[in-house]
Amino acid sequence: MKAIEIRNKYLNFFERHGHKIIPSASLIPENDPSVLFTTAGMHPLVPYLLGEKHPEGTRLTDYQKCVRTVDIDEVGDNRHLTFFEMLGNWSLGDYFKEESIKMSYEFLTKELEIPSEKLSVTCFKGDNDAPRDEVSANVWKEAGIPEERIYFFGKDDNWWIAGEEGPCGPDTEIFYDTGKEKCSDKCDPSCGCGKYVEIWNNVFMEYFKNHDGTYSKLKQRNVDTGLGLERMTMLLQGKKTPFEIELFAPVMEKLEELQKVDNISSRRIVAEHLRTSIMIISDGGRPSNVDRGYILRRLIRRMTRHLNKLGIDLNELSNLIDISIDSIKEMYPELLDKKETIKNVIVEEKDKFVRTLQKGEKEFEKEVNNARSKGITTLPVEVVFNLYETYGFPQEMTEELAKEYNIEVDTKDFDKLFKEHQEKSRMGSEHKFKGGLAEQNEMTTKYHTATHLLHKALQIVLGEHATQKGSNITSERLRFDFAHPQKVTPEELQKVEDIVNEQIKRGLDVTCEKMTVEEAKKSGAMGLFENKYGDLVKVYTIGDFSKEICGGPHVKNTSELGTFKIKKEESSSAGVRRIKAVLI
Ligand code: ALA
Repeated sequence: MKAIEIRNKYLNFFERHGHKIIPSASLIPENDPSVLFTTAGMHPLVPYLLGEKHPEGTRLTDYQKCVRTVDIDEVGDNRHLTFFEMLGNWSLGDYFKEESIKMSYEFLTKELEIPSEKLSVTCFKGDNDAPRDEVSANVWKEAGIPEERIYFFGKDDNWWIAGEEGPCGPDTEIFYDTGKEKCSDKCDPSCGCGKYVEIWNNVFMEYFKNHDGTYSKLKQRNVDTGLGLERMTMLLQGKKTPFEIELFAPVMEKLEELQKVDNISSRRIVAEHLRTSIMIISDGGRPSNVDRGYILRRLIRRMTRHLNKLGIDLNELSNLIDISIDSIKEMYPELLDKKETIKNVIVEEKDKFVRTLQKGEKEFEKEVNNARSKGITTLPVEVVFNLYETYGFPQEMTEELAKEYNIEVDTKDFDKLFKEHQEKSRMGSEHKFKGGLAEQNEMTTKYHTATHLLHKALQIVLGEHATQKGSNITSERLRFDFAHPQKVTPEELQKVEDIVNEQIKRGLDVTCEKMTVEEAKKSGAMGLFENKYGDLVKVYTIGDFSKEICGGPHVKNTSELGTFKIKKEESSSAGVRRIKAVLI
């Protein structure tokens, strides 16, 4: 069965069971600056899991384009993908465990005709936060899964949450037995040996994990499920890797035909990163040095390097994009209209990278000559690292170059420097992230400072609960999401606007200090006090009016801002309001 047939069977099956089919959301989350990409089907549905009414009702099903980037460096093995499609069905306070499990079992065994003996399941074993999930286990038994194929595990395996806080709950995971021998007596679905492959996850979302780590009950009991389409297709087609299914095979074959050096891992990296880049660009992503743009840049660079490694002429890229789009166009017809743009973006970025690589090689040559003139026979690790940081040369590439130039390189401490660098850029991007700043110029800097004034003014007028939930700034306007249970009245909005304008007129100085999260907390600064911001944070103080953790940048004095005007106040999601405002 082809992937598209599995997708259609899934959507039709759930439609027959009373679900409305909703379209896939964009890979680039609309209202959520806290994540780079849509990572799961539930992601765009969070407000509805929290209780807001969905216009299509309480039973939904969809296919969702997802990108998960934590594993980029793993791509090249026989299973990791950065882009994948998740099929899902939801109950928003409608059915719960019994109906959900029965439908899953029926879909797998009747629609996909997977023999029941191939299936094993896992359930939550219970802890202080939630009881052992005997209910699910019993439904599985009734459905036809014998006790010896029902396993119980703790939160690490059988609890699902996106990120650190939010809607969550115990899950029951369904595994497909590939028929491989058990790797040991203890081999079970939690073992990564490859005998058991997870195919579907049914999450019973009735909890909310709070900021302080405690759990509360949600208003309603939801079901959130996710089935990875590429993996299911691979299993049903009896293939060993997703790269053999029709969504990748044509590109893989073309690469094999073109390559001068055989390397399966490089072929997978090219095919995989090409598809993900195509999908991100199709949803509006563009390469840049920050956040999601940087991920896209990394994908295109890594793909280019591996084309080089395979000895494939980079002019073939355009042709490879055609083949890749051709293999997935039935699944994502929107790609056809965007083909030229996608090609231009990828090829342009590849060209830029090639120029950077050439510059890097010149730099390397300089270092070699310099070292030789001093009689040094081994280049220090700093050179290797600088090539990585400035020119995107991975360690292995510098090593290859060193071989060509007949010189030794010291790579012993590369990992240490690499980790330090990662930590720095992580902090940097998270700071930036908090402000949702995609670009920085004079206007966005002004809006950034205005956002701090607005945040504080909202707290004065509405109360301290009105904390930041999101922010997005362009050169034209600011957009600010904050916690508040009801519509902000026109009178309140007027008050907020007046307070902000008053602070602008007062000509308050904006100053910045670096301190630890602890010190920032003590100083009374607003902001998200999470360790993930790293130890040192910047605190911006605006006169006697506001103090907030933030990466900046900001204006020097509020008098630079002009006049602040609120244009719109609306709902953003359950319990979250949104203000759009401009400076004129
Ligand atoms: N949200 C669940 C997952 O991503 C279904 O596994």
